[in-house]
Amino acid sequence: MPKRYLVTAGLPYSNGRLHVGHIGGAYLPADTYVRYLRARGDEALYICGSDDNGVAIEISAAQAKTTPQEIATRFHERQKLDFAGLRIDFDVYGGTHQPAFTELHERFSQEFFKRIFDKGYFTKRSTKQLYDPKANRFLPDRYVRGTCHHCNAPGATGDQCEACGQMIDPLLLIDPISEITHEPAEVRETTHWYLRLNDFEKPLRKWLESKRDEWRSSVINFALGQIKQGLPERAMTRDIEWGVPVPLDDPDAKDKVLFVWFDAPIGYVSFTAKLCEQRDGDWRGYEKWWSDPETAIVHFIGEDNTVFHALIWPAMLTADGRHQLPYNVVANNFINIRLSGDEAKVSKSKTPEDSPVWIEEYLKRFDPDALRYYLTAIAPENARTAFDPRDFVTRNNSELVAAFGNFVNRTLTFAARYFDGKVPDAAAQTDVDREHVKLADEALKKVGKNIEGHRYRLALEEMMAFARACNQYFGVREPWRTRKEDLNDCAAAIATCIHAVHYLAILAYPFMPGAARKLIAMLGLPEETIRWEPPAPLAAGHPLGKPAILFEKLLPDCMD
Ligand code: MF3
Ligand code: ZN
Repeated sequence: MPKRYLVTAGLPYSNGRLHVGHIGGAYLPADTYVRYLRARGDEALYICGSDDNGVAIEISAAQAKTTPQEIATRFHERQKLDFAGLRIDFDVYGGTHQPAFTELHERFSQEFFKRIFDKGYFTKRSTKQLYDPKANRFLPDRYVRGTCHHCNAPGATGDQCEACGQMIDPLLLIDPISEITHEPAEVRETTHWYLRLNDFEKPLRKWLESKRDEWRSSVINFALGQIKQGLPERAMTRDIEWGVPVPLDDPDAKDKVLFVWFDAPIGYVSFTAKLCEQRDGDWRGYEKWWSDPETAIVHFIGEDNTVFHALIWPAMLTADGRHQLPYNVVANNFINIRLSGDEAKVSKSKTPEDSPVWIEEYLKRFDPDALRYYLTAIAPENARTAFDPRDFVTRNNSELVAAFGNFVNRTLTFAARYFDGKVPDAAAQTDVDREHVKLADEALKKVGKNIEGHRYRLALEEMMAFARACNQYFGVREPWRTRKEDLNDCAAAIATCIHAVHYLAILAYPFMPGAARKLIAMLGLPEETIRWEPPAPLAAGHPLGKPAILFEKLLPDCMD
């Protein structure tokens, strides 16, 4: 068993707003996991921050007629607010090019690069690349367009042809045009440093094989499949201005920066170091998290990041040699959105600016826990799923309000009305009552096991199954009848229901921390930390808090 956990979620590019797909695919399951680990008593850190370097940020800045720094900081701040609004609580939210983090991040990234260079794992190679003479810069594949060299269709980009679906070799593109200036692109020579990934095929294969039973099979199969095909060498430098300068004393390295996918995962390490510096005044504290094999490093990512986290980053770590490899890489598929029946990707240009699929917009109108609930319920753990606003409302109303909230409400209003807002005496508990508590214990175990196995969807279903069983139990015990006929029996049933509410508070905590906190307050308990263990029954006479609405009912068209 690992002694402590370092959990990360893929660093979002800081050139756009976050939407429901980002959240459900990485940040939310990671947050749920960390809350569970801590409730279980484990030491854990949750590390994230913005991915500020690279060509995507540079291009966004050019389009907005501003600087990369301005774009990166603007969206970094926006994303930070969105995460906080959803109660996704990082220990540190860094940024690979944010003022407080840049210095350490550059130092760490350059050190990684130099160590890998010194060990001889890079091949320096000159290649031909498309160049925009008017913009005075080399063109990344996605920023050229031309005629497809397979099918002659116009409008193919330098990486793919939409018409025939085939991969494009940008140098073979017919009549290539720069997307930046819309001028013809030309071919020029340039030099780059390539990481020879095939040098690591053997150790990577062995390491991945050892993870077969623990990891999601999609990740293992993909990574092993890539190794089987043979890992190509990958250029780890780029001809752009914005990023971490290549730390080589070589005239060919002048004006080049590290490939954004080289420095971004190092952000996980440099942000940990910054956190240690902020907390204890010594950045070196990060070694306890990154070099001690008793720490388990768990990366949460979207499907498109798999090759980087399961192969390239582990190869970099192996080449560098100072840190340990990931304990798990938890990849999720994408979440599309379904609007009036049609399923599509969320997109800056096509999704309305005020649509609640943007987190900023959602938070203006709705409860963060309702979204956390729904995104876990549709978690894309084995396949792509779709966020459907109507389905969101239905599930909020029929599951959170009508099942979970209803049980809590009928229990606590009953206690308020007939037991003076105090926990009644459980002395007359029957076998049925004890059975119900047993069910609660089992729910705690099952939900915990499923979270440990990264089956969040199933874990949530188990929590809901218990909430439904609570309603059933309430119906079977008929406290409204026994109140008049056998008050001791009624007291035992309501005391058991209150105990069940306490279990629900614990069960809900990783998924819906706000609701859990409300429940704890309604139980008249101090805002202590939630422990993932059977709670002691509250003593007879314990004063409860005021019952309040836990979840709001929503109108069918509120999301339209
Ligand atoms: N910015 C990348 C994306 O959104 C993810 C970077 S993850 C990291 O796809 F590991 F590189 F940090
Ligand atoms: Zn084509």
